Amino acid sequence: MDIWQALSENHAANADRPILRLFDAAGRAGHYSAEACGMRFDYSRTNIDDDARDLLIALAQAADVPGRREAMFEGRPINETEGRAVLHTALRAPEGQLVAGGEDVKAGVRETLARMEDFAASLREGRYCGAGGPIADVVNIGIGGSDLGPAMATLALAPWHDGPRCHFVSNVDGAHVHDVLARCDPGRTLVIVASKTFTTVETMTNAETARAWMARAVAEPARQFVALSSDAARAGAFGIPPGRVFGFEDWVGGRYSLWGPIGLSLMLAIGPAAFRDFLAGGAAMDAHFRAAPLEENMPVMLALVGIWHHQICGHASRAVLPYDQRLARLPAYLQQLEMESNGKRVGMDGADLPRPAGPIVWGEPGTNGQHAFFQLIHQGRQVVPCEFLVAARGHEPELAHHHALLVANCLAQSAALLRGRTLAEAAETLAGRGLTGAELERQARHRVFPGNRPSTTLIYPLLDPATLGAIIALYEHRVFVEGVILGINSFDQWGVELGKELASQLLPAVRGEATVDGADPSTRALLAALHEMAGARPGPEDR
Ligand code: F6P
Repeated sequence: MDIWQALSENHAANADRPILRLFDAAGRAGHYSAEACGMRFDYSRTNIDDDARDLLIALAQAADVPGRREAMFEGRPINETEGRAVLHTALRAPEGQLVAGGEDVKAGVRETLARMEDFAASLREGRYCGAGGPIADVVNIGIGGSDLGPAMATLALAPWHDGPRCHFVSNVDGAHVHDVLARCDPGRTLVIVASKTFTTVETMTNAETARAWMARAVAEPARQFVALSSDAARAGAFGIPPGRVFGFEDWVGGRYSLWGPIGLSLMLAIGPAAFRDFLAGGAAMDAHFRAAPLEENMPVMLALVGIWHHQICGHASRAVLPYDQRLARLPAYLQQLEMESNGKRVGMDGADLPRPAGPIVWGEPGTNGQHAFFQLIHQGRQVVPCEFLVAARGHEPELAHHHALLVANCLAQSAALLRGRTLAEAAETLAGRGLTGAELERQARHRVFPGNRPSTTLIYPLLDPATLGAIIALYEHRVFVEGVILGINSFDQWGVELGKELASQLLPAVRGEATVDGADPSTRALLAALHEMAGARPGPEDR
């Protein structure tokens, strides 16, 4: 029988089975977890049983996950719609034999990393200065992969910050660049223009605004700009000379680019040594992913749990819930990583997929989410598989009582999702408070938790640079494995193109410089209403 079919039948046969009953088998917690890089991934609180797990692993084998994995690490052009290798792992690999198309890619990676480290050291030590003195503020201007990775990681590693303050500007909404620059002294600010293509309209617009802001106060603003880009020529045309352009190859996808030059803001914040620890953490997860048997392989099992919940059980979304305030940007980072990679509708061959690909990914840090959307997760009719993350220790020994509360809440939420509360239990509690009869019955029904709601938990000792590197690489490989099983190309993003094209067509009409030819009636009506609300339609002379 087809493996997908067998999995669906396993699910149908066991859909109402209490997950708790699976714990009757001794040692389930241990048998349904994977360990790597000092971390433990627990997936015992899912409805996956031995048969389902065997089938999921068979699915990974049938899709040739091991073969595709080696093709990726060896630099074969697995990004087939763009004819590119996928070698972001080379950015963090220890010295070795990474080859793409017969070329040793590690030499270029090493040279760029050394240039980044030299630059970071000179800035952090006050040798590279702005017109007004040592650099105090760094403004990274980028969007998507050129923003989310460094912004997420810089926040995550706040205890390691001993360099300049780092700010991130992404949105083309002028409010973003305005509010960030208002906090900086132009004479002591470095602007990083982070754009692989150096054409992204949001980034280029913000970069030009930042350059004009600096030019008002500084004689040579270009001296305080660096570019992180694959296109040195465009960066040069913007006024940034080759010596301050940190390049990377087309085999580094935007959402996988944090490990190279796009990580410069992180390196400036935490220093080159801690950045190397971060790279080493990613490389350690790579080594685990390449070597561990599938059933012990953390990224593979994380991916298989994802396939089980979305493609087999039909749960539309998954919530990522870091009980770690410094991972507040992890859900946003994973939204791009997972949804831009696997939000696809056709397979490698262009044929329609037989099943939906990536799920909706969302989340917020705990415990905040508990006071916002957990109501729906516990009692809503739809099931949202939850992915909890929590550290064994916090960074603030003097606040250990906070961390104890944090851990207790994390464990309590997954326990509540697992066991729920029956009508009889709710009624008993209310009876104890003196309620009786119809009122007791009515009130008790509101206090029932169905339970049997799946979750996984990733635990790690402490959120340090190496652990963060391992966590990010874990999720990258999870996306890869899910993509291989679904038969899609996880490394292109054609779905972002249409909106960009329409935005550039609409811009003249929004500015009032042209009529809205070709737009649909709804768009025309909205634009007319916006113009009316804005007061007078602005002409070119008003801009
Ligand atoms: O949103 C599309 C996208 O191409 C992302 O994949 C990428 O991370 C982002 O835009 C930014 O691109 P760039 O680094 O070229 O400015």
